[in-house]
Parts: sequence; C-alpha cells; structure tokens
Amino acid sequence: MKTVHVHGIDLATLDQGVGPPVLLVHAFPLNHSMWNGQIAALAANYRVIAPDLRGFGQSGISEGTVTMEQFADDLAGLLDGLGVTEPVVFCGLSMGGYIGWQFYRKHGHRVRAMILCDTRAVADTAETRAARMDLINRVLREGPEAVAQTMIPKLLAASTVASRPEIVASVQRMILANDPRGIAAAARGIAERPDATALLPEIRCPTLVIVGKFDAISTLEEMRCIAGKIPGAKLVTIAGAGHLTPIEQPAQTTAAIESFLKGLA
Ligand code: MLT
Repeated sequence: MKTVHVHGIDLATLDQGVGPPVLLVHAFPLNHSMWNGQIAALAANYRVIAPDLRGFGQSGISEGTVTMEQFADDLAGLLDGLGVTEPVVFCGLSMGGYIGWQFYRKHGHRVRAMILCDTRAVADTAETRAARMDLINRVLREGPEAVAQTMIPKLLAASTVASRPEIVASVQRMILANDPRGIAAAARGIAERPDATALLPEIRCPTLVIVGKFDAISTLEEMRCIAGKIPGAKLVTIAGAGHLTPIEQPAQTTAAIESFLKGLA
C-alpha cells in the first residue's frame, strides 16, 4: 500500500499494475480489500488503484460528516498525488457508487467509463435516515460489532450467510477493523447524500451496471431502472450474490468487469 496526503489526511491505497487506470471504490463500511477477488486479474492489464477511503482501513480518520462530494474530491486528489492524468474507469460499489455520481458531476473530465455495482441513485427516505442515525449512535456507543451484526444479513445473500462462513468472517473482519468515528462520519454523509436520479440521463460515458440477483439493499429492479436511465448502459446480473457481488461471486464479477473493459475503445 502507498500513502498519499490528500486534503489534510493520509489516504492508503493499493496501486498495482500498468496500463489504463481503473479506480476501485469500496462500499460502506468496508475497505479496499473487498476487491481482492478482482485486483490480481485486472492488474495484469490495467493500473488498478484501490484506496481505503477517508475513515476506513489504513487511511486517516475525520470526525463529523464526510459527504459523498468530499470522498469524490479526495479521489481526485489521490489521482493527482499518484500522477494519474488520463481519465480513469471509475468502478464503485454501493457507497462507492454514491461517490461515483459526485465524481462524475464534479470531475467528469477524469472519467473514461463508469462501472456501478449494487448502488442506488435515490436519496435516503426519512425512515432509512432514521435507521442510519440509530446505527451511528450504536456504533459510537458499542463499536463496529453493532454495525456488523445489523448489516451482514443485508450485505450478503441468505445462501452466502447460511453456507459460506469464510465470506461472512471476511466481511466481519473488514467491518471490525474500522474506527467507529470513521464509520459514523461516512454514515452521516450517506444520510445527507443528494438524489442523483436527474444525473443519470446526463452520463455520457460507457457504463456498466452490475447487480447481485439477491441484492437486498439495491435491488435488481432498482438497478435495472438505473441502467435504463443511463444512455447505452449495460446491465449484468450476478447469480448467487447479494449486495457484495465482488466478494460473493468474484469470478463472475471479474469476468463482467474484464469483458466491459476489453470493449472500451
Ligand atoms: C454500502 O454497501 O455501501 C451501504 O450498504 C450503503 C448504504 O447503506 O446505503
């Protein structure tokens, strides 16, 4: 991992391989290693940049609220720090996708193509926001165990939870390794995120939308709707996966990403 100082904080990032840059942006509340099933294969042909976002993994922590826009600005600063000037393929999952909307909006000239995995364009409802506030209070009081307990059944398909204990353990390890203050700051930012639906028809780059068939957070129906609103976007459904497609079905997810990347001009 490299460390790059960006906007007052140290960001830890994997930077592996040579070729056109692919930026992998992790979900809440995980870290860059959620892409471990993709990194080696992609790094054979691309420069893979997979950071721990502010407040997660080995990166520095900020308290208060970290907005999706702040994360997007951090990523632009990270690319500057790494000397990446050519446009990147932005690949984000869930919160990574929320950040993707802001990255495209503010730093669109840096985007060659988008890969949006298991994410949402709508803002939180009042009910979801209230549940998030509850989670923030619990994580600050009880630590990340509270988040792992609440979120794992939603992050993974029921079949993954029932029969693949190694995956459950690995997601749990990622969550538990995070600082409660970093989790709380990102959760506040997620709760405040704007509705990105109006942006979808404005996205003018090649776009791939990936969704786990059993995703309980960003459902197949919702992701189909997102793909339908982005001109020319392609939708790939991953069988046997919930919300965390790259972890639950690494081979299928990597194949979908590789085939999309190969098709880029
Ligand atoms: C994520 O996977 O990033 C989270 O599920 C996002 C969310 O809670 O909205």
